[in-house]
Parts: sequence; structure tokens; C-alpha cells
Amino acid sequence: MNTGTGTTSEHLTIVKHPLVQHKLSIMRDKATSTAKFRQLLREISMLLAYEVTRHLPLTTERIDTPICEMDAPTLQGRKLALISILRAGNGLLDGILELVPSARVGFVGLYRDPETLQPVQYYCKLPSELADRVVIVVDPMLATGNSSAKAIDLLKEAGAKNIIFLCLLAAPEGVQRMKEAHPDVPVVTAAVDDHLNDHGYIVPGLGDAGDRLYGTK
Ligand code: URA
Repeated sequence: MNTGTGTTSEHLTIVKHPLVQHKLSIMRDKATSTAKFRQLLREISMLLAYEVTRHLPLTTERIDTPICEMDAPTLQGRKLALISILRAGNGLLDGILELVPSARVGFVGLYRDPETLQPVQYYCKLPSELADRVVIVVDPMLATGNSSAKAIDLLKEAGAKNIIFLCLLAAPEGVQRMKEAHPDVPVVTAAVDDHLNDHGYIVPGLGDAGDRLYGTK
């Protein structure tokens, strides 16, 4: 389905909004500074948050406007849970939190073994009552999909049932891996690039998102 600003299948939504695409192109440019990269990721994350929260359930609450009473739409159920996959996930997290400041936040620390490319867990701190929350997992880069699939394994073990995965850029290999490992978890991204190189980097990509975000090497 083409929604005008996004291309959608049951498992994958690509947010094609011109502002998202324009900002992403600047982020891809290796000449873009750390400060600019960070600012753009924050801005894009707000635009992606708009898309990823599109189906949150609503209820109504009786309120008084200055004119009359009304049944006003409000978000239903427990607060949203945002789970950041450290460390680059925090770049997406910050912008989303500006839009949804009451969200509960969890962190999963996984690093990628450079030889096997398999994820190794070093940290996990999650909000309570995950089973009753919409859980949005954030990581800018869906590369092999191994870390994302592992993080979602952990969340399901902790009871999460309604999970959405949000990234900035995906490789086809990562999308496929997620579809096989977690077919019930929709993936929302700004772009699906061409392929992964031998080091597990997305091509053309934007390089190492964590390094570009924090100015490390
Ligand atoms: N992680 C990154 O930061 N960049 C890639 O291209 C792949 C994984």
C-alpha cells in the first residue's frame, strides 16, 4: 500500500516523507559534522515517531473546554515503552521522548562481536508490565538484524507482546532476518539500502551511527 508519505507492507513501512528523506541524505554525507548529525537524528526521530505511533489506541475523556463539555480523544492504556538498543538507539530515543514525554524507557546493551557479527548482551533494564504496553524498540541501523532479533527475544521473554521496531536505515538482509525471527513485529524505517558489506556495514549507509552520533572512532 502506498500511503503518500510511506510505502507499507504488513511487516515493513518505509517513511518516504520528503523531510525525512532530505534530512537522511544530509546525515549520510560524511562531511556532516557530529553536532549536525545529532541534531538531524533528533529531528528525524520526531517525524518517525509520528509514523510509528499512528496506530496507538485511543479512548475518550470527558473534559470542559472554555465553551462546553466534550468527549476528547486521549491515548488509551498504559504508557508506551521505548526500548533503546545501546548506544546508537539513544539518538532516536531522545527525539521520540520529546513527543511522548510520559513514555517508560528501557535499555538493552548489545555489542556485535566483530568476527562472528553475533550480538553479545552486556546490559538490560526494562520497564515493568511490558505485557500491557505498546513497546517501541529503537536502533538507527538494522544491519544483519542479529542484535535487533536478540533484543526482541529478551523483550518477549520479559512479557512484551505488542512490539514495533523503529530504525532509520535498514539493509535488506536485516529486514529479512527480522521477518523470519519475529514476523509479528512490524519494522518502520526511513530507507532500505542496497546491501551489507563484508564488515556488516550498510551500503551506501551512513557509516557507524554510534561513532557519528557521539564523535568517536
Ligand atoms: N551499525 C552501524 O552503525 N552502521 C552500519 O552500517 C551497520 C551497523
